[in-house]
Amino acid sequence: MILVSGATGNVGGELARRLAEAGMAVRALVRDPGKAPAGTEPVGGDLDHPESLTGALKGVEGVFLLSGYADMPGLLAEIDRAGVGRVVLLSGGAVLASDTKNVISRYMHESERAVRESGVPWTLLRPSGFMSNTLQWAPQIRAGGDVVRAPFPHVRIAMVDPYDIAAVAAEALLEDGHEGNVYNPTGPDPLLPADRVRILGEVLGRELRFEGQTNAQAREDMLATMPVEYVEAFFTFYADGKLDESHVLPTVREVTGNAPRTFAQWAAAHADAFR
Ligand SMILES: NC(=O)c1ccc[n+]([C@@H]2O[C@H](COP(=O)([O-])OP(=O)(O)OC[C@H]3O[C@@H](n4cnc5c(N)ncnc54)[C@H](OP(=O)(O)O)[C@@H]3O)[C@@H](O)[C@H]2O)c1
Repeated sequence: MILVSGATGNVGGELARRLAEAGMAVRALVRDPGKAPAGTEPVGGDLDHPESLTGALKGVEGVFLLSGYADMPGLLAEIDRAGVGRVVLLSGGAVLASDTKNVISRYMHESERAVRESGVPWTLLRPSGFMSNTLQWAPQIRAGGDVVRAPFPHVRIAMVDPYDIAAVAAEALLEDGHEGNVYNPTGPDPLLPADRVRILGEVLGRELRFEGQTNAQAREDMLATMPVEYVEAFFTFYADGKLDESHVLPTVREVTGNAPRTFAQWAAAHADAFR
């Protein structure tokens, strides 16, 4: 039995579906049982409250875990107590990008440390930025807007499809030989935001146009949707250049045997979200 946290999210959803389709017994940790992916056993639990996972962990051999919850050492203690044989943590390259004053680097660092110190055999995933971040543009594109405005226009990211992060996670959960490894799944192309807009337009058959925001415009927009310390963290990464996710790495192919998906493949698979 594998317990997948974040099973309604981008990576956990792909992983839960992949494991269920392969005939594995999958428990989907969800806060709303109605949202569990097909073929999985929904189980309630809140990652901010480790004691709420006791039932979900019964008989579990592997856990896919998200980072950044209130008591990561407590979560890992529950996982250890349940006798789980493997934990795969979704962290990110941001863990190395800055010091612990940066809120994102800090939560990833603390999560990784809790996993390393837990005594449970582990694998860490530090993917580059997700292709699914593009879903942020979906409401305006659905509403008919042809101009996409986005921050950090000159920052290239080898964006990765959550499908491929899930493929790496599945290998680490199901196969031997991944214990103690740190994997950096990336996509196959270092993409500018303008590249994503162009490719998305081609897939949707729409004349989409990209306009890069100035840092001042970006800051104002971001402050409207996220806490200031997260805005500062993203500015440290992408305006100050502390996080370089432009490098295409062979990780996905090496771990899974398959080439990582292109952004065009991601866009085709998720086109309905933009229509
Ligand atoms: N986006 C990127 O570019 C990027 C890059 C590197 C690393 N990461 C890491 O990846 C994570 C996001 O992964 P994602 O895109 O797959 O996630 P996502 O789509 O944002 O989904 C988050 C998931 O977490 C669940 N969740 C939230 N709070 C919870 C709680 N207290 N207890 C139990 N479940 C809870 C949500 O469940 P509900 O349905 O119940 O809300 C949802 O399934 C980030 O948080 C970051 O740590 C992201």
